[in-house]
Amino acid sequence: MKALILVGGFGTRLRPLTLRVPKPLVDFANKPMILHQIEALKEVGVTEVVLAINYQPEVMLNFLKEFEPKLGIKITCSQETEPLGTAGPLALARDKLVDGSGEPFFVLNSDVICEYPFTELVNFHKSHGGEVTIMITKVDEPSKYGVVVMEEETRRVERFVEKPKIFVGNKINAGIYLLNPSVLDRIELRPTSIEKEVFPKIASDQKLYAMDLPGFWMDIGQPKDYVTGLGLYLNSLRKKSPSKLAFGPNMIGNVLVHENASIGEGCLIGPDVTIGPGCVVESSVRLSRCTVMRGARIKNHSCISNSIIGWHSTVGQWARIENMTILGEDVHVGDEVYTNGGVVLPHKEIKSDILKPDIVM
Ligand code: GDD
Ligand code: MG
Repeated sequence: MKALILVGGFGTRLRPLTLRVPKPLVDFANKPMILHQIEALKEVGVTEVVLAINYQPEVMLNFLKEFEPKLGIKITCSQETEPLGTAGPLALARDKLVDGSGEPFFVLNSDVICEYPFTELVNFHKSHGGEVTIMITKVDEPSKYGVVVMEEETRRVERFVEKPKIFVGNKINAGIYLLNPSVLDRIELRPTSIEKEVFPKIASDQKLYAMDLPGFWMDIGQPKDYVTGLGLYLNSLRKKSPSKLAFGPNMIGNVLVHENASIGEGCLIGPDVTIGPGCVVESSVRLSRCTVMRGARIKNHSCISNSIIGWHSTVGQWARIENMTILGEDVHVGDEVYTNGGVVLPHKEIKSDILKPDIVM
């Protein structure tokens, strides 16, 4: 089977992290988001993944060179010269996706994190005879997603409404689909939206079906959701492979520490923390609900909560970082500095306090 991952988009909501790499390469739980997906696709027997891309292709291509041999799966790029939206890229990659076998293929948004129950998806798809299956989940705030209205018994979708302004329902598109090759005949090679143009049409032809996504789900394309998603992911890891989590008297709840990271004496870490490869956490540091990315250094007695520390940044002694502070790559926060929701662009040095949420350019 094959899969296409929608990798384009500028990832503006996840800046400053996406100033360094395209959104799918931003680390989540110590590896690029997209690796979680590619590994799960490989597991279910996908042999080729097509990345539909329109932004920073060279960064993506370098990543591919490194990971294709490691993962043992064919990964190719389908590059747009202009953004083609969420459906146009499928038309562009048509020749890569269709191999005459008639087999359905996967399509994924690159920023959704869950347990990827692909086997269940394939089995359900085979059972209903429609053209498309989408995975759905329930959320409290459906207005920022695609909402489905469906016939409960048959699982057939009657309406698909992208980002509805008035309440339609709380079952939303999780951004994971299985499509029959025939769907490609419905998509033109132009900028077009699968959610606004393709799915509503297939629903009205009674060929769109929905499967409830078991387990957790989160679109991690925004900082707050990223941190919430981390908690959900670690919770699921606790159930599936608890031995991957850190344990000991200075760990609280779910904490993931890369084997090449070092942690000093007297720290208190957790819940919901990930510490990436090469990180140095000095002594008596307090970390909760945060991510510390590859190569960062957290100095003595600092305290970080609800925040994201970008690659190779440093946090000074006795510094206090909280309330969705996001440090881009290679940011240096001085000793004793306080930041309350600072969003700091790469390569900056922060010497004075950031007292309220603000962007530091
Ligand atoms: N190749 C390519 N070209 N990819 C694109 C383009 C483009 O022009 N525009 C967006 N994408 C990719 C994004 O990178 C992302 O992986 C995916 O398409 C969806 O775009 P988002 O910008 O993340 O959309 P969203 O989060 O507002 O809404 C989508 O996801 C929700 C679930 O997270 C929709 O699919 C909703 O229906 C859905 O509920
Ligand atoms: Mg998204």
